[in-house]
Amino acid sequence: MTSPPSHLWLNALLQALQFVQSTWLGALYALGITDDSHGAPAWPWALRIAGENLVIDVALARQFAWMLAAIAFAIVCVLLAVCWRRAWRWLTAAAIGALILAPWPSPRLWLTAAVPTSFHTSPTGFTVDSIARGARVYSAQCAACHGVDGRGEGPRAATLRRWPPTMASALLSRRADGELFWHVLYGMRDDQGVTMPGFVGRLSDREVWAALDYMRVLSASAGMAAGGSWPVPIALPSMVVRCAGRPDRALSAWRGHQRVRVVAVDAAHPPPFEDPRFLTLLVRRGDAQATGPAAASVRKVATAATATTQRTPGEVTPLFGTRADCVADAPEAWQVFAQIAGAPASGLAGTEWLADRDGWLRALAPAGRRGWADGGLMCTTSISLQDGDKSSARDPLTATLREMDGDPVRFVKGGFVH
Ligand code: HEC
Repeated sequence: MTSPPSHLWLNALLQALQFVQSTWLGALYALGITDDSHGAPAWPWALRIAGENLVIDVALARQFAWMLAAIAFAIVCVLLAVCWRRAWRWLTAAAIGALILAPWPSPRLWLTAAVPTSFHTSPTGFTVDSIARGARVYSAQCAACHGVDGRGEGPRAATLRRWPPTMASALLSRRADGELFWHVLYGMRDDQGVTMPGFVGRLSDREVWAALDYMRVLSASAGMAAGGSWPVPIALPSMVVRCAGRPDRALSAWRGHQRVRVVAVDAAHPPPFEDPRFLTLLVRRGDAQATGPAAASVRKVATAATATTQRTPGEVTPLFGTRADCVADAPEAWQVFAQIAGAPASGLAGTEWLADRDGWLRALAPAGRRGWADGGLMCTTSISLQDGDKSSARDPLTATLREMDGDPVRFVKGGFVH
């Protein structure tokens, strides 16, 4: 996957298309022209602009952008012609000329089938709770075909006409969230009939969104099992965290503001020292499993998190000035992070993850490695960083942070990442 500078304008184009289509949908809904479907305005047409096609075909995207520019130019010319009558001939000629010269890529290429929920976004917030609920739905309803590990090889898979897709791929992030939701509710079909059954009436909307959350975690762990990396960066799951002297709050509150380092700690792996470059969050195994003096120190850190009181509002202050900033106690968090690391729950302690400021998990330092080594970033482009001080000695964690910041996640909606 390369990321030439052309991808910058492409990213802007895709975001603009997404914005225009969803704002247009909101306006139609406000005017009462379209109804709602599953709790949000329903897309009333059978087609939408296929951002996912533009993203994989830069030549098509370029033609599409020129076409939009020509249409915009023609509209401006016509408006000017109306106001400035004396020049109307020239302006009309310019408008017609622009429209003739514009490339008109075939609509078959840049339009795709849409469903009423195409522009829906997941209401779950990708929380650990929702992922855990999704895991239960998945093992009861989906694993028979999709496989416990999400690689499409469940016991029923061989009896199907079409093999379920493997989740060890970027499939889930290539599709619009709302279309995945629709496919699970109403099933999928091809020319010869149903390929996947629908679950409407059997699962609630909430359960379907939760199953999709869990499938994203499965995709990360299936990717780890298949190739040792995540197919795409996965969002940092949100959960309630306790930080020194502050009321409990959701981890997602840091999204858009601060990098987060997550560290799995247990008796043998005490909390690391805090680092001002990111928020350090400890994920602990349930107290029942953690015993011994180091576990007691982990517990002490957690207790201090609620006990310390003097705090400057708006800033995160480390516990004791040296140890981790915040602690997560959600009982399922350990399991969820183990899956994301592709590690057994028993061998997770000592693992570290880094999330960028936009809330994407980007890098992983596995337990055995004891810290960061070069190449911690899980999903990179081949972009080379334009830093002048490459030669100066940098520790691997700093290198990973710089790489992460220099290569943000792009094209998330209806396209692929990077
Ligand atoms: C009877 C077997 C079967 C069951 C049960 C099943 N699936 Fe599928 N699933 C499939 C097949 C086959 C496909 C590929 C369909 C296709 O591409 O036409 C698929 C595709 C998908 C996709 C990809 C959709 C896309 O847009 O490409 C998702 C997501 C999915 N399934 C989720 C689920 C979830 C969630 C459940 C449980 C609630 C589930 N499936 C249960 C067989 C199954």
